[in-house]
Amino acid sequence: MTSPDPELSPRRAARAEAERLATAALATMPPVEPVTRRRLRTEGETPSPRGQGGIRALLSSRGGTVATRRRRAGVLAVALTIVASGAVAIGAAASAGGGEGEAQTATVDTVAAVPGPPAVPAEGLPVPQLAAVPATATPCDDPDFTAALAAGDDSAAISAVGGGSAFREAVASGIAPCVSLSDPNREWVVVNKQRPLDPLDYRAGDLVMPQNVRALEESALRSAPASALTELVRAASEAGAGEIGYLSAFRSYSTQQSTYAGRVDVGGVEEADRESARAGYSEHQTGLAVDIVPCDGSCGTLDDIASSSQGAWVRDHAWEYGFITRYAEGRESVSGYLPEAWHQRYIGRELARAYHEGGYTTLEEFFGLPAAPTY
Ligand code: DAL
Ligand code: ZN
Repeated sequence: MTSPDPELSPRRAARAEAERLATAALATMPPVEPVTRRRLRTEGETPSPRGQGGIRALLSSRGGTVATRRRRAGVLAVALTIVASGAVAIGAAASAGGGEGEAQTATVDTVAAVPGPPAVPAEGLPVPQLAAVPATATPCDDPDFTAALAAGDDSAAISAVGGGSAFREAVASGIAPCVSLSDPNREWVVVNKQRPLDPLDYRAGDLVMPQNVRALEESALRSAPASALTELVRAASEAGAGEIGYLSAFRSYSTQQSTYAGRVDVGGVEEADRESARAGYSEHQTGLAVDIVPCDGSCGTLDDIASSSQGAWVRDHAWEYGFITRYAEGRESVSGYLPEAWHQRYIGRELARAYHEGGYTTLEEFFGLPAAPTY
């Protein structure tokens, strides 16, 4: 700190001090990018995903290379800037005439105030500088994320975003348009009465029989859920819950046709639609779902699982192995089906943890999708 020059007048001294502070602040700033613009909406609109989920996602990012962390930090800084700018814009829009409940829109520059000298209301003195920043905060701009997606590595993609909760939030908030919940090859695919498989006769490619699990039908799973089921069954046994076997895992389009037709024959279409998916609409076609049964010597039926020690253990621990009970009690209005304690759907360990910790009971709500009670 230098002593004030006694020769300066008070006005000149103020200007000199402001210029000194501005120069010091600018020296620490990164190069300025071109100005971009984005639109913000006030009142009654879903909070800006870029300013909410994106930031949390970025905040929760962990690990990665130094370059990755720097990239994330850069995107996070941009996201935080957008929120700060947006808050100012919303406040301005509101005070310009918006009462409560009155929807408004405002267009603002996504600019950030450079930390510099305090504003001095005197003619000719420096005013706060504005540095433009790009308005992007989406995992789809993260090369680690897009590379994992392209490689078909769902787990690595989720890790690149910062984990299951961050991934869920990014997808549900709409800031990750590069993630498709309709891709049947993904562990996060959502299939329901409103979301048929594409193609309708989709057949999973890496089907294997789970090792060391009693299969009552010659029915395979995709390799990741098959390994996970093996681990789950061993853990349940070691915990003293008893043996878990399974009936049906992957079902082809034509098998599902027969399964559904059988239900219709027994109870009619209306009843069948509450219990069995039509061909092209079943999770069993993805190779990610399995119907488990309790085995104590011989194996019981699907209906026996809910009240068995195996079922109790699965309720508490299946998520640790990447599975969720897809059709939960009392959720028919969203999932479209009566409860099925036996139908375990694999979504991967990271997402299953987020599902469990978030207290979700339908995959539709987990990803912010519409309810699918009917076709
Ligand atoms: N039972 C389930 C809904 C299916 O058929 O896929
Ligand atoms: Zn099932």
